[in-house]
Amino acid sequence: MEPGFGRMLYSREVIDDRVKQLAAHVTGVYRGQPLMVAVVLRGAFIFAADLVRHLEEQVDISFVRVRSYGDSTSPQHEPVVRLPDDVEWRGLHVLIVEDIVDTGRSLVALRNALRDEGVASVRSCSFLDKPARREVDCDVDFVGFTLEGSEFVVGYGLDVAGRYRNLPYVATLRPDDPTD
Ligand code: IMP
Ligand code: MG
Repeated sequence: MEPGFGRMLYSREVIDDRVKQLAAHVTGVYRGQPLMVAVVLRGAFIFAADLVRHLEEQVDISFVRVRSYGDSTSPQHEPVVRLPDDVEWRGLHVLIVEDIVDTGRSLVALRNALRDEGVASVRSCSFLDKPARREVDCDVDFVGFTLEGSEFVVGYGLDVAGRYRNLPYVATLRPDDPTD
């Protein structure tokens, strides 16, 4: 770990175990029903790659984007969803795979966009959940780890300004305050 970088929250080993448990849970819920995994770029790419290799259903994969606009460009700061145009969503059972659910706005926007496309069902699986930061009502069906506070975290796909996505573990951004 880089000196002064931050505290490791979840090691590679802990993540591996949890991802296997999650995959077993997802497999049990779908019970052999084919599913379309919608990976939210870019943060969820590592989690999704690990998760799908433990799923026992027939799985297709697509990549979606959700871009959040700041207050300055959009008063309601509604996230903008971009679905790939080569997927026929109608009738599919879709599992959204996210890196982290924070305010919940991205997930709600994506779920609504998929419902508008006529999917048969939509569930969500997020590697991390930060319920303390929630601004909109939004349940996540499968959660890897729940963060109690509002701390910003990086690694295992999650970035800050494009950095640290490739860390194999999850860490906090700032070193612990020695006076804590
Ligand atoms: P929200 O739930 O719409 O607020 O947006 C969630 C998105 O914000 C995630 O998909 C991440 O890209 C980003 N995000 C939120 N919290 C963190 C964090 O702690 N680390 C890295 N990215 C984060
Ligand atoms: Mg994201």
